[in-house]
Amino acid sequence: MQWRHKDLLDVSQLNADEVRHILTTAAYFREINSRPVKKVPTLKGRSVVLFFAEPSTRTKTSFDMAGKRLSADTFALGKSGSSIVKGESLKDTALTLQAMNPDGIVIRHSSSGAAQFLAERLECSVINAGDGRHAHPTQALLDALTFSRRWKGDFVGKTVLILGDIAHSRVARSNVILLNMLGARVRLCGPRTLLPPRLDTWPVEVFSDLLTACRGVDAVMCLRLQLERMHAGLIPDMREYSRTFGLGARHLRLAAPGCCVLHPGPINRGVEIDSDVADSAESLILEQVENGVAVRMALLFLYLTRKSPEMNQSGIPE
Ligand code: CP
Repeated sequence: MQWRHKDLLDVSQLNADEVRHILTTAAYFREINSRPVKKVPTLKGRSVVLFFAEPSTRTKTSFDMAGKRLSADTFALGKSGSSIVKGESLKDTALTLQAMNPDGIVIRHSSSGAAQFLAERLECSVINAGDGRHAHPTQALLDALTFSRRWKGDFVGKTVLILGDIAHSRVARSNVILLNMLGARVRLCGPRTLLPPRLDTWPVEVFSDLLTACRGVDAVMCLRLQLERMHAGLIPDMREYSRTFGLGARHLRLAAPGCCVLHPGPINRGVEIDSDVADSAESLILEQVENGVAVRMALLFLYLTRKSPEMNQSGIPE
């Protein structure tokens, strides 16, 4: 498949064949990541700027690792260490980075639409590493790889419950789109104050009771309370929240046999997920992190070689 996209802003830009192509490519890079020597020359001579204007452990480190394992040069820039603190705008920051001729910019930003803003102004590829509450496409793709490995590629007939702070979650938004595209059903559960408006337009079932929501599901994806995006006290009492919406072993007993548990991280043990569930055999939380490196290698490969048909079409050079 010749990759046709310049930018990755959300999974809604992709079709199911393209998603499957990303997952197949990521599976190839998973194998490379299991070798004693994990570095391949695939992107030698290419450069990627990692511009993270919001904190990140998983996404930033895995993009950095992904780039380096493909022999690309990666350059990390954070908000506090950049000239944004001296008043430079996002546009001027982006144009400045563009002038250095990188092949791609990976951006995380607190404003929904920041990645699109850059994509419309820059010639290089822009990959959205999470913008406000809008989208987190690379997270949804690594979650899809995790589900795909668990379900042997078959999403049809599977039900995924997304639990917690849906209103502020870019992970939930991207996952609802992608899981539906791949044929899974999605349930949402959370307090009314943490559900987004106009949910009737989303392709989901909505539950207010966690025990009911868990019945028969094949996977539960827990979400952190995004306190940094809450401008009012939407949770009156944290202990009450964890009693009502925290995932525990008693909930999983109502799920389908083999039900797995995911969490994009960072996790808050004892709030949205009990420690014994986070550390259980059903938990795929650390496999998600592992898959994140492979998926981001696949994305850097596809987006940065889109103008090189000899690389992009003929498989992945080792
Ligand atoms: N899942 C996720 O985006 O984690 P980080 O904020 O640590 O990157």
